[in-house]
Amino acid sequence: MLKPSLKDARVRTRKEVLVKTNDYIIDNNLKELGKNKTYYVKTYGCQMNEHDSENIKAILEDMGFTESINMENADVILLNTCAIRENAHNKVFGMVGRVKTLKETVNPNIILGICGCMAQEEVVVDEILNKYRHVDLVFGTHNIHRLPKLLSEIINKHNKQIEVYSIEGDVIENIPVKRDSKYKAWVNIMFGCDKFCTYCIVPYTRGKQRSRMPEFIINEVKDLVRDGYKEVTLLGQNVNAYGKDLNINYNMENLLEDVAKTGIERVRFVTSHPWDFTDTMIEVIAKYPNIMPYIHLPLQSGSSKILKLMGRRYTKEEYLTLFNKLKKALPYSSITTDIIVGFPGETEEDFNETLEVVNECKFDSAFTFIFSPRVGTPASRMQDDVSLEEKNERLQRLNKLVNKYSKEANDRYLGKVVKVLIEGVSEKDDNHLMGYTDTMKLVNVKAPIEYIGKIIDVKITDVKTWSMDGELNE
Ligand code: SAH
Ligand code: SF4
Ligand code: F3S
Repeated sequence: MLKPSLKDARVRTRKEVLVKTNDYIIDNNLKELGKNKTYYVKTYGCQMNEHDSENIKAILEDMGFTESINMENADVILLNTCAIRENAHNKVFGMVGRVKTLKETVNPNIILGICGCMAQEEVVVDEILNKYRHVDLVFGTHNIHRLPKLLSEIINKHNKQIEVYSIEGDVIENIPVKRDSKYKAWVNIMFGCDKFCTYCIVPYTRGKQRSRMPEFIINEVKDLVRDGYKEVTLLGQNVNAYGKDLNINYNMENLLEDVAKTGIERVRFVTSHPWDFTDTMIEVIAKYPNIMPYIHLPLQSGSSKILKLMGRRYTKEEYLTLFNKLKKALPYSSITTDIIVGFPGETEEDFNETLEVVNECKFDSAFTFIFSPRVGTPASRMQDDVSLEEKNERLQRLNKLVNKYSKEANDRYLGKVVKVLIEGVSEKDDNHLMGYTDTMKLVNVKAPIEYIGKIIDVKITDVKTWSMDGELNE
């Protein structure tokens, strides 16, 4: 048993990050282990967590398991969790309870595993060990490649497996992937985070910032182009800091340029930390038509006092300067953001400054959250005297303003012809297909099914706050 340790997860050393190209090993005798058995993976977190699930699914299929569309029939159930806010915790343990009932009533041999960022939390693993004895497997974000070994121990020896590394992490390059989409793909460009924003748990759950070597990334994108993919999203907690840890004089500007040159039709990237956004990067985005004019630029707060307490390392003014520079260089672009309300010490004046920035930037959309104290983070120990009621009220005021600007941003598309990558059938209406514009606007369009996977011209006929309707422009 290897439990996570918060103390170890905090550590950052100068130890060299190793690029491991053969650490994922699957012995022949493990390839039959899942024969005639099924798996179900539930994903709770961000794009990186989604992409980890794509890796986990591929590993399970390497072992002979097949995917089950519902949890009730599955032999292996894995919950790939997120730790960013407290509410995720409750959802996951609700599910753990449901699986307990399944084990008691339907199939006692179900293997229940918990992985992802919650599995990296010492307090969570202690809770699992104390209260949820029917959990058979816990593994973390650094040891996904160990899944075949761990599962074989459970299946062959009926031993519970708890294995979570709390080290800074290496880069494992040979993990297989089963992608959810045939048209758009997630591509990790870096792992971990060293920014240690005071509210955030990610540096503890994902380890040290480790950029992948450029050739591995470029080759992955080239393979995707060859396989007919239309879009890649380069993933990292701070993509603008890509390469800084590599000492090879190669950074995000270089990478974006090289990825654009592969000829893939659409390149996206998330998330950009304002601190590392350089002028040359803006030039590169403007220069290549296949780099999408869409930037997610988390603000977190409009008050420089709160930003300082958050450890974000930019002021309100610096954020606004960057925002205006981006809008000037990329006038057609859409810019979205993340905002936290109710951070410890946030006064009504601080909150009003956030509203002011929203009024100035008129974001295309924003993800808004109430501050959630996370165990082990500095902010969880800060004095917080704003009531939850007040925080809820602030969130509502903020959302109202954010929605107003989302609708206004969408209104500008009415009657225009836009390019949409059609991804599939619309959730709301079987007769419609759905996809996203270059600026990441959701569009529903009446079009024949053959258009799935193609980038088509759509004329926007109706506009709502979170989506638009359109018709084929032929
Ligand atoms: N790396 C990204 C953020 C990833 S987490 C960045 O630096 O911008 C996604 C969002 O969750 C954050 O932008 C933040 O707005 C929110 N978030 C993170 N920790 C939080 C917490 N403890 N409470 C509430 N929201 C949080
Ligand atoms: Fe968390 Fe800050 Fe790192 Fe983003 S940059 S993942 S908010 S610590
Ligand atoms: Fe959640 Fe971990 Fe992503 S905490 S947001 S799944 S990096």
